[in-house]
Amino acid sequence: MSLYTTQDEKKKAAAEAALKHLPRGGILGVGTGSTVNFLIDLLPQLQLEAAVASSTATAERLQKLGIEVIDMNHVGGLDAYVDGADEIDRHMHMIKGGGAALTREKIVASIAKKFVCIVDDSKWVGQLGREFPLPVEVIPMARSAVARKLVALGGDPVYREGVVTDNGNVILDVFNLNILDALEIEKTINNIPGVVTNGIFALNKADIAIVATDNGIEERIAE
Ligand code: 5RP
Repeated sequence: MSLYTTQDEKKKAAAEAALKHLPRGGILGVGTGSTVNFLIDLLPQLQLEAAVASSTATAERLQKLGIEVIDMNHVGGLDAYVDGADEIDRHMHMIKGGGAALTREKIVASIAKKFVCIVDDSKWVGQLGREFPLPVEVIPMARSAVARKLVALGGDPVYREGVVTDNGNVILDVFNLNILDALEIEKTINNIPGVVTNGIFALNKADIAIVATDNGIEERIAE
């Protein structure tokens, strides 16, 4: 028996449990996606000074709730960044970018002292990339060239048709990559000319994962 009847209930529970890990009254970095949307709805409780958003969708949702969204160029650093993930493992390495916001997510996360990841347990995996393809944001003119390099790395890239990122770029979703060393693969793919960034978050991993399981909330840190 599960405490929750739907995946959305788990996402909401993870969002609620994250609140105590986030600063009150400061400036918060806010991720993108359906799990974070549950958190955004709770943010008025934290009486934030402002937020830095990882996407236009998140910015709009924050503003609708009266939360000021500021340009990251006007912020020296953040106490915390909160976001979901498509996959996360016991090292706190993640795959992100299912919502095509990976580049801005990685940028905002990079200036935060703490990355709080909120997920339901369907996102918890033994090895990244076996189920969920790795999103790679690519400058449009380099799409085919980057795809060939990804094939040479052993992956099967698929162009995400009809999707343009907030930065005006395209997404390749890479299936069948053997992500045994997430740090190395993150660096290798980011070094391909034309790649803006890839969805492995290992260089900048989560500090804590709030995982909603059938038995309730578990707080996990890197093993
Ligand atoms: C968006 C992301 C999201 O964090 C990821 O896709 C998880 O989304 P959701 O909470 O909707 O499952 O990386 O680019």
